[in-house]
Amino acid sequence: MITNTELEYKGNLYPNKIVDFRQDTDKLYFTTENGVILQITVMRNSTIRFRYATGHTFEPDFSYAVSENASRGYNRLEVTETDSEYYIETTRVKILVDKASLRTQISDLEGNILNEDEIGFHWEENYQYGGNTVKMSKITQTGESFYGMGDKATHLNLKGKRVNNWVMDQYAYGKDQEPLYKAIPFYIGLNKNRAYGIFFDNSFRSYFDFAHERRNATSFWADGGEMNYYFFYGPEMSKVVRLYTDLTGTPELPPLWALGYHQSKWSYFPESRVKEIAKQFRDLRIPCDAIYLDIDYMDGFRCFTWDKNHFPEPKRMMKELKEDGFKTVVMIDPGIKIDKDYWVYREAMEKGYFCRRGDGPYMHGKVWPGECNFPDFTNPEVREWWAELYKEFMAEMGVDAVWNDMNEPAVMEVPGKTAPLDTRHNFDGHPCTHRKAHNIYGMQMVRATYEGVKKYVYPKRPFVITRAAFSGTQRYASTWTGDNVATWEHLWIANVQMQRMCMSGYSFVGSDIGGFAEQPNGELFARWIQLGVFHPFCRVHSSGDHGDQEPWSFGDEVTDIVRKFIELRYQLLPYLYTMFYKYVNDGIPMLQSLVHFDQEDNQTHFRTDEFIFGDHILVCPVQEPNAQGRRMYIPRGKWYNFWTEEVVDGGLEKWVPAELDEIPLFIKEGAIIPKYPVQQYVGEVELEELVLDLYYKEGVELSSVYEDSQEGFDYTQGKYSLRKFKLIGKPKQLIVQQYKDGAFTTPYESFRFNLHGLPFKIVEIEIDNEKVALKDLKLNGDNSLTVSKNFTELHITGK
Ligand code: GLC
Repeated sequence: MITNTELEYKGNLYPNKIVDFRQDTDKLYFTTENGVILQITVMRNSTIRFRYATGHTFEPDFSYAVSENASRGYNRLEVTETDSEYYIETTRVKILVDKASLRTQISDLEGNILNEDEIGFHWEENYQYGGNTVKMSKITQTGESFYGMGDKATHLNLKGKRVNNWVMDQYAYGKDQEPLYKAIPFYIGLNKNRAYGIFFDNSFRSYFDFAHERRNATSFWADGGEMNYYFFYGPEMSKVVRLYTDLTGTPELPPLWALGYHQSKWSYFPESRVKEIAKQFRDLRIPCDAIYLDIDYMDGFRCFTWDKNHFPEPKRMMKELKEDGFKTVVMIDPGIKIDKDYWVYREAMEKGYFCRRGDGPYMHGKVWPGECNFPDFTNPEVREWWAELYKEFMAEMGVDAVWNDMNEPAVMEVPGKTAPLDTRHNFDGHPCTHRKAHNIYGMQMVRATYEGVKKYVYPKRPFVITRAAFSGTQRYASTWTGDNVATWEHLWIANVQMQRMCMSGYSFVGSDIGGFAEQPNGELFARWIQLGVFHPFCRVHSSGDHGDQEPWSFGDEVTDIVRKFIELRYQLLPYLYTMFYKYVNDGIPMLQSLVHFDQEDNQTHFRTDEFIFGDHILVCPVQEPNAQGRRMYIPRGKWYNFWTEEVVDGGLEKWVPAELDEIPLFIKEGAIIPKYPVQQYVGEVELEELVLDLYYKEGVELSSVYEDSQEGFDYTQGKYSLRKFKLIGKPKQLIVQQYKDGAFTTPYESFRFNLHGLPFKIVEIEIDNEKVALKDLKLNGDNSLTVSKNFTELHITGK
């Protein structure tokens, strides 16, 4: 095993003194006597790239993670020099490069050290494979905390942990088990209220040690490739996350139905069973937008085929489901059955699209259909071919969306559970073995799927899901956290994983609600649904061997609870959609861990359970059986208990009651929360008004609502509606100002304000400087009033 920090280890090589410096616009090159080159690129004022070559040579500069749309540009770049150091300064950070050792140190402009090399860059030659094991070690500051890293099923704060990145099929994984399905080599360091981030853009298996082996060192290294990392400076953690997300990209807006509730199972078949499930939802009036077909819809697990016995007329079935408001989502895996009579296999074979082993033969492995070959999705031509395979499914048959599974790729009955490491890949023209391509294989598969689905559902929006992911995969697909288990511990894991993924630039994520393996009891299922409706992707999925897992599978009491929470999700759709809009446009994570929400409050640094849904709703799942509530930390500020309307002061731990039909839920004071009526599926109901739940605050608070036609691409041509509300609360007055942007005309004419916590009795209302008779506003005893959606300023005065 490679131990980065065995300082005396003979194999380690280190840069020595700098003998040459050269600047090429935004790129600075420092060359050492022993042939190491450090290239520093100033990408933005707060985003700096560090890249190291050995033997005087860089590899071709190529990354699957970095988005084409990443922002570039800075305001200042100054280089100065002393006898012993170089200094590089932007408007936000100062970087020192030590002339004797090539070590670097990054500080803010006041001189506070943000991040500093310990040994810094060093490497080991890999005699078995060639290339280097590239290593970096940094000084850990006392009191420093670490976050991020994708789907790690461990404490949110990574201090004291060692993790590694190698995407893996991990059926029924456990807490702290590693590695899982995602490889997101990005972490955030937080020290003395200053946050920075590091993204190690290297697709080989990589390792991170957060003061685990040695208390004063944090290190990261990879089995090959280059030491190539990006440094982001906050000081706000939210800014670090935004900068990373800007670099690696965000998805497009999904169709709104993708944010509804989805029902899945391995597997629903035949057609009559699918129909029966769909009917139950409508009969029991439990909202649902999508139903999933797992592998058994296929003919012998051959992708892009149908089992004609179970699904004789898929086109008709999907049409009928659509008429009833259900979208159909089908699974596609990467393994193509070796079968000379199967057209997909034949085509790929004829075109030479399957991966080969180092010595030439085709790479093969066992998956659901038996022995399979695997397309090389890192070849752009293969991706184009793969995208076209969706034509019939999407454009002709009416499949609505696709989930890609097993795309690590998972291979059964072999050590390592994946392709042999000598398997060759095109890597977009940079040929390599699986050691380098493994972590991005699934990403390239789902990228091809996304291109195909997008092309053939047009003019609708694509919706695609993936299991494996590397940094940047969020541009193409939503994701789920794989094969979890129906246990209370897994409820905890799901909560942490979702927060961590959101902090790692990947917000469109959910768990298999209720657990994939084994069967939850009603209580666990209810508690999990209560959490799951606050996750960006909300789907129940489970393995068929373990019994039923539909909302009605656990008796009437649980059915009612499940319905209540799914209904709440549907009411919150405009709020959730606005969160998504902010994620897409500004890189703001849809869920915020408390440390992300308020890093200045040290109490938040080790919290795991509570999170903020969007910017105004505090959620804390109950994660134990037989609970009537729980202790939780309420962040600083004033919060309304959603159920009781009681206002609590945060900055403390508190017991919060929550019987089985409630989850601890709080609304930040001053928030205006938009709501739609309950619908059985998105688009069922014509919107007649927009409910705005307003929570009074003495002071100022901003809220917004983003809307568009919920489908299609008009919104990219300006057809959207973005309303920004400014609430100004005074002891005897409440003012709401509205600023509207965009050319979309919302279908409703009015807002219904529900005024919560108003500390006075209303005596007068003025809209845009005109007094309005209270009766015209349908002012009810419950403090709800109806106001035209076009108002710009609303004054509510009381006594
Ligand atoms: C994998 C997936 C799971 C799916 C099953 C069968 O285990 O993670 O979601 O149901 O394969 O396709």
